[in-house]
Amino acid sequence: MAKLWAGVTAGNTDKLADELNSSIAFDSRLYRQDIRGSIAHAKMLGAQGIIAPEEAEALASGLEGVLADLDSGALSVDMSAEDIHMFVEQELTNRLGDLGKKLHTARSRNDQVALDLRLYLRDETGEIQKLIRDLMRALLDQAKAHKSDIMPGYTHLQRAQPISFGHHLLAYCQMLRRDLGRLEDAARRMDVSPIGCCALAGTSYDTDRRMEARLLGFGDIAANSLDGVSDRDFCLELMSALAILMMHLSRLSEELILWSSWEFKFVELSDEYTTGSSIMPQKRNPDMAELVRGKTGRVYGDLVGLLATMKGLPLAYNKDMQEDKEAVFDAVDTAKLCLGVFAPMIRTMHARTDNMLSAARGGFINATDLADYLVKKGLPFRDAYKISGWIVAKCLAEGTVLEDLPLEEYRAFSPLFAEDLYGDIDIRACMERRVSEGGTSLASVEAQIKQIEEFLRA
Ligand code: ARG
Repeated sequence: MAKLWAGVTAGNTDKLADELNSSIAFDSRLYRQDIRGSIAHAKMLGAQGIIAPEEAEALASGLEGVLADLDSGALSVDMSAEDIHMFVEQELTNRLGDLGKKLHTARSRNDQVALDLRLYLRDETGEIQKLIRDLMRALLDQAKAHKSDIMPGYTHLQRAQPISFGHHLLAYCQMLRRDLGRLEDAARRMDVSPIGCCALAGTSYDTDRRMEARLLGFGDIAANSLDGVSDRDFCLELMSALAILMMHLSRLSEELILWSSWEFKFVELSDEYTTGSSIMPQKRNPDMAELVRGKTGRVYGDLVGLLATMKGLPLAYNKDMQEDKEAVFDAVDTAKLCLGVFAPMIRTMHARTDNMLSAARGGFINATDLADYLVKKGLPFRDAYKISGWIVAKCLAEGTVLEDLPLEEYRAFSPLFAEDLYGDIDIRACMERRVSEGGTSLASVEAQIKQIEEFLRA
């Protein structure tokens, strides 16, 4: 395609240099935003008398035509164009003749690309928020179904205290809720129109930047033209929020992988989200969870890559910034794909509550409650802790558990032990006793469920 910018330079760049320079392979996905932005620009130029009102109308309907043809597939993007902005302008000019050449008045590709990217990411952020809400709903439904099912809670991956499976899942709802908050925050700062900053310094034409921003649904305009064209914080903020989101999905993935192992067998992922092995017929591999865990590293890479690209750039626009798109698109695509698989994977997951319960019974996760029992009877906590430790050691040596140790044996350690001890170390009672706000008792878990339900309704 002939270069629209041929002037001082002849425009006959080397073939490989063209390849390096070109962004059409990855920015063609911005065509809708590019055309929407151009329609608003044409309307503003007409309203301000920079071009004639009929010209503005003709440009807008010409652009509508290009959009409709691209949407229907009647027109496809010419991959030999340098970028999507050049392609759309060239196509418009092919259709309208010289009038098409007026569109780029009081504009530069520098503010144009910043605009397109903000418009695109604004929409994608909304899509990601919907997907996160869907995953929260899937987790919430599982949490409701398992609000009373006991599992061991862990620290250091060692059985620690009994919790409900519902309580565990609700922890992830809280993480996702914060992720939504971060995305909302990023979207707020993204909601600023850079168009009209032009190449770097603004323009001598009598433009109306606020009108253009209004037409495109922006809340505000960039207050400094240099900043408007060189700011990519909105990409970095979004990617930071996505990196944290992926970290959460990765932690849950890791748990699902552990829980699906023969050693745990706490959950079974449905056939739609597991794969078999080509040689080992017994295998049921949690590939989707592993891939989400794996792709988390990739989203971190996208973020760190763009941070590194931006760190040494002088103001204002530099071509280095063309590297923003592949990184941010990859982060967005990856997060959407992972969320899209995760929600139904959680929804169809089967919890083996029998195995969770037997794991909870076998791991001395009521040892804290044994110590608390002695404290209740008047012993200082440190002494109670020590005695409980001896009793656990004895049980371990004899291959028994606290619930099954006879009272006489307890009384050999302390005369404070009495029959009511067994009620206190009963696993369910241990779980139910943790009634503090945000704790694992049924009442606490129900309060959390209510809170998340209200959040999702809003
Ligand atoms: N394709 C370019 C990008 O993605 C558009 C802006 C080009 N601006 C310029 N002055 N060459 O960043």
